[in-house]
Amino acid sequence: MPSSVVVKNPLRVAVIGGDGTGPEVVAEAVKVLRAVSEREGFQIEFTEFDLGGERYLRTGEILPDEELERLKTFHAILLGAVGDPRVPPGVLERGLLLRLRFELDQYINLRPVKLYPGVQTPLADKGPEDIDFVVVRENTEDLYAGIGGWLKKGTPDEVAIQTAIYTRKGCERCIRWAFEYTRKRNKKKFLVLVAKTNVLTYGHDLWLRTFQEVAKQYPDIRTDYNHVDACCMWMVKNPEYYDVIVTTNMFGDIITDLGAIIQGGMGVAAGANLNPDPGGVSMFEPMGGSAPKYTGTGQINPIAAITAGAMLLEFNGYEQAAQRLYQAIQVVTGTKMKSQAAGKMGYTTQQVGDLVCEALG
Ligand code: IPM
Ligand code: MN
Repeated sequence: MPSSVVVKNPLRVAVIGGDGTGPEVVAEAVKVLRAVSEREGFQIEFTEFDLGGERYLRTGEILPDEELERLKTFHAILLGAVGDPRVPPGVLERGLLLRLRFELDQYINLRPVKLYPGVQTPLADKGPEDIDFVVVRENTEDLYAGIGGWLKKGTPDEVAIQTAIYTRKGCERCIRWAFEYTRKRNKKKFLVLVAKTNVLTYGHDLWLRTFQEVAKQYPDIRTDYNHVDACCMWMVKNPEYYDVIVTTNMFGDIITDLGAIIQGGMGVAAGANLNPDPGGVSMFEPMGGSAPKYTGTGQINPIAAITAGAMLLEFNGYEQAAQRLYQAIQVVTGTKMKSQAAGKMGYTTQQVGDLVCEALG
């Protein structure tokens, strides 16, 4: 939150292009961030890290401890994409992306769902004034904790267990941050807890009780509760009802894909993995995957990665520069690009990056 944000100059950013189209979209974000820093008069330095499927296939390494330690010395991380069809599912996701989120204790996954003017949504009769909310997803617990195992694996009697964990500390720090964020956002001042208390009667009861307790300290914030299934329905039927949602890791993962599609698709959806504590290192990423079929074709949309760059500025004390970039992005999506879908933008990946630089003025 702003109180703990110290402006860093030079701003030192670690860049993990990662897999597939990750490096291409991140290159555009880097280009645009350089342009913003020149116009706003601050220094920004980028250091590339060779992590992802290529390195794993070459050396067997996913995230060596020394690389992790080196990453901790940066102010922020910009990540492209993780996932390589040549590597079994889960290896890179768990070994790189989730390990970074956990080791850096990035306990907030912030995902804005905002329909920019001129961008097409699949929701009939909904426009930018209707689709403008933010999901605060807990990012370190739940089914993602990786707790479980097999018994009698590979036999007809096999048992598999995958346990969701929820801690008081984990849900409270996320919920508290969501209240602070709702206050700072200063729109509807309305925070909705999304969970499944009618079935997950232990873990989500802990979430609900914590939410209700913390809410007492924020009398200026209106609150509500939605079951996650109902939330999916409201996101489609009445997205204008939402301002800020706070939710658990697994449900946050699912509803933010729904959010991404109603805001115009994976080409525009970005997220921030935040460690808001003093000295915390946060990581910013486009939400789309590595899109192997578009790799190297210049057809992938870099807007999400560029938006992740804007979030990087916003959460590292460069609020004004961030706003300038958000404006430039909206000029390009609203008045230049034909579509936000890969291959249909009317421009190449690099041209979209150039357009955003121009729109910075
Ligand atoms: C996301 C992704 C990741 C997640 C995967 C790649 C592990 O889907 O960032 O939403 O589930 O968190
Ligand atoms: Mn996801």
